[in-house]
Formats: sequence, structure tokens, C-alpha cells
Amino acid sequence: MEPEKIVIFDTTLRDGEQSPGASMNIEEKLDVARQLARLGVDVIEAGFPISSAGDFESVRLVAQEVRGPSIAGLSRANIQDIDRAWEALQGAERARIHTFIATSDIHLEHKLKKTRSEVLELAAKAVAHARSLCPDVEFSPEDASRSDIGYLCEVLEAVIEAGATTLNIPDTVGYALPYEFGKLIATIRERVKGIEKAVISVHCHNDMGLAVANSLAAMANGARQVECTVNGIGERAGNTALEEIVMAINTRSDYLPFRTGIDTREIYRASRLVSEVTGIVVQPNKAVVGSNAFAHEAGIHQHGVIQKRQTYEIMDPNAIGLTSNRLVLGKHSGRHAFEKHLKELGYELNREELERAFARFKEVADKKKIVFDADLEAIVSDEAHQVAEVYHLDYMIVMTSLEGIPTATIRMQKGQEILQAAETGVGCVDAVYRTIDKLVDVPHRLADYNVKSVTGGTDAIGEVTVKLADNGHIFTGRGASLDIVEASARAYVQAINKLVYHHMTRKAATEDKV
Ligand code: KIV
Ligand code: ZN
Repeated sequence: MEPEKIVIFDTTLRDGEQSPGASMNIEEKLDVARQLARLGVDVIEAGFPISSAGDFESVRLVAQEVRGPSIAGLSRANIQDIDRAWEALQGAERARIHTFIATSDIHLEHKLKKTRSEVLELAAKAVAHARSLCPDVEFSPEDASRSDIGYLCEVLEAVIEAGATTLNIPDTVGYALPYEFGKLIATIRERVKGIEKAVISVHCHNDMGLAVANSLAAMANGARQVECTVNGIGERAGNTALEEIVMAINTRSDYLPFRTGIDTREIYRASRLVSEVTGIVVQPNKAVVGSNAFAHEAGIHQHGVIQKRQTYEIMDPNAIGLTSNRLVLGKHSGRHAFEKHLKELGYELNREELERAFARFKEVADKKKIVFDADLEAIVSDEAHQVAEVYHLDYMIVMTSLEGIPTATIRMQKGQEILQAAETGVGCVDAVYRTIDKLVDVPHRLADYNVKSVTGGTDAIGEVTVKLADNGHIFTGRGASLDIVEASARAYVQAINKLVYHHMTRKAATEDKV
């Protein structure tokens, strides 16, 4: 029997972006959306257009630029939200309006302050309005898993009648257990009149670590769309992880008679990109994409894998796009070979990015004998995610000793202006950050600092992620270098440039309006 298709609805740019500290700027969202298209997701939920001008603009841009998947915009169940979502989706090849309202008594009483019949009417009206604009309409009864089943079925019947084409059943607070959630989907299939006219979808949160298990249980009972995010990011403990659900379907095809349209070889790159732009580090033991997911520590395991990979590996690392850490290029490699190799790794850089990346590669190759693919990826993504440089780091001298006080001297440029200062700190990175703070007069708070090495050894490239908080916004900066103090400075300056750029463009927008 032909395996049935599971629609992969990716919400990395909407629910994923709701993860604490995961905010992305518009270019970063566009990069992620393009990678999602390469990955082959069926639907990209690009944002919640009415929630902010930035969200509207990013949904508009993704709809206009990204081809392949349908583009969805989220809206509450009211006319104004739906119209705004529809406006943002105008450029899409295929658009979907996703509208939601809560159906559990706890949400009705304490959040919406509405009766069941009022909510039912709002849901049906919203769907009918959305359907008058767009042929593809998804409806979500928020907190479905804690809603009264009789009432939930009534609402679902009403929205099918109003024209909903996908019914998404969210386990909003990650409360459901697999057996229970599967049964909920089975009951909906049995009891809701007209259910065959719509696709049943599920949207599971991971508060008890059950999001993937609940989604699988739902599929076994008739769900044919799964909502998920790359690396499982999302509100609180996150959502169903795309890579986990897809690899479960592929690995256990003997038990799961399903297929997806995902090109699994793009999974690793998608994971890395999402981690970079959100600054959310993937835990080493994360299923499928964690750095230890294919690492074998015990001698017996290593021996087994060498004899036959399948003794201890149920998935092939190549299947998710993990290349073995090969020696790629040396210091004598030319620009042409460099560009060709990057293409093989899946990177398409413009001329300027390529020049910068090549110069950085030469620097690294001069100092480090062996340049691995992972090193190359760190350099390239550093250069590919550059932002408008208001402040440019010119030079930096950092001194430290066992007994002495770490001191940094830094020169930066701001347009034609040369800025120079020195400061001490409790450590080298502290001294550098204090000096930079002296030179840039923008208020901010360091919300997070994270350093990790790309490969093993003391000559490994260090990748630093920095998050700066300002007025409820988070600005993420990344830097990669053989020297972690330099990587720290690069990451900090990048985050500052994003923050300053944000202030400048906001000011310009206000001036435009006056
Ligand atoms: O978790 C949830 O209920 C949601 C809905 C908007 C689908 O994110
Ligand atoms: Zn959610």
C-alpha cells in the first residue's frame, strides 16, 4: 500500500520565534524561510502579521520571495486580524490564513471572558470571513486538549461548515499523554460531522517532553498534518521537533505507513542556521541534530560501528546532511576551489560575501594546519550573516597575565570618526566588552554570552553568541575565530550594530510619518 502523505507545517518563524530570546530580524527570517523551502516543508507559518509592524513585514517579504511551500499567516478570530494577515500574504504563490480562538473553559472564563456560544459564533464568523478571502483556511481551537470534548466537536463542526480546510488540534500547554491524545483525534474523527472535508492537523508542545510522541499517536489515529519547528524551538519547552518527527517516519517506515516531502539531507543545515540566527544552542544530546547524536564513546560501540554501522546507528548521518569532518582545503587553495567546495556544502554567497569569507579562510588556513568542513561553515555563516556596520572593529590589543589586570585597547570606526579607548576587566572578554561599551553610547544589557568550539583541539575555531537586551528587544550577535577573545569582540560588535541599526530605522520610520 502506498504510504500516506503527512503535511509538514513548519512554525519556526512564528511559534519558534516565541521562544524566549529567539527573535530574528527580517533578513534572518528570510534566510530561514529559504532553507525551509529547500528542506521541502509544505507550509511555512511566517508570523503573526497583526502582532507588530516587523511581523507584518516579514510575512509580507517571505510571501513575496519564497516559492514552493504555502505561506501561512496567523490571526486571532476577528475580522481585523484576518484582514491584516491576508494583506501580508498577497505576494504568496499559495497562501493560507490560520485563525484561532481558545475553546477550553479555563481560557474562556479567565482569558476571553466569553461564553461557549459566543466563542462558537466568533470562530464560525472568522472562518467564513477568512474563506471569503482565501481558499486555504486553517482553524485552531486553542487548548483543545483541555477542552470539553462535546463542545470542541460542536466548534469543529461549525468551522467546517463555515469553510475551514484544515482543523488543527493544539495541545497548547503540553498536557496530553500519547494514548490520550491519539484517542482525542480518533474521537474527533468519529464524532465531527463533515470531518472528511478537512485535513486533521496537530500542534503539540513539549512541556513534558511528549510533543513528538503525541504527534505520532495523532498520526496513527488519522492526523495528516503535523506542526513542528526546527530544533523543536517554541513557546516554553518548545514544539514538536521537525527533524525528530521526519526521521521517525523515515526510520520506522516498517511501522509508520507515511511519507513526507522533506529532503532530509537539508536537516543539519536547517538546524545549524536556526541555532545561529536565534542564538539558541542545540543541546549536545538532542535527538538527530545534537553534536553527540552520532558520536560513539564506548569502545565496544566504536568497534561495532566500524564493523557495521547499523550495529549502533539506526540512522545514517549522511541522511541528515552530516558530512564526515573531512580535511577540505589548505592554505594554498585558490578562490576557485574554495568557491566550488562551498557550493558542494550548499552555500551560495554573493561576490562580496565570498571575498570576505575567502580572506577569513586564508587567515585561518595560515594559522591552522587542518581546516575541516565545520570550520569552513563557521567562517562562512559568520560572513553571510553580516549586518549593516555602523561600528567597525579596527584593531584590538588585549593583555593578561597570571597576576596582572586584564586590559584591552580598542580602536573602532563610526563612519569617518575614529574612536579609541582602553579599559580593564575581571577577564579578557570583560575588559573587551567594557572598552567597547565606552566607545558606543547605546544603552543595552548583556542578556546572554555563550562560547563553543566548532571542532576538537586547542586550535579549534570558537563560536561566540551574544544577546543584548534593549527595551524588550533581543539582538543576537555571532562571531567565529581561532581566538575566542576576538570571536567574543566580533559577536558583541555585531549585536551592537543590529541594535543601533534597529534604532536608526525606527527613528527614520517615525520621521517619515511626521
Ligand atoms: O499552541 C497553540 O495553541 C498555538 C496556536 C496558535 C495554534 O500556537
Ligand atoms: Zn503553539
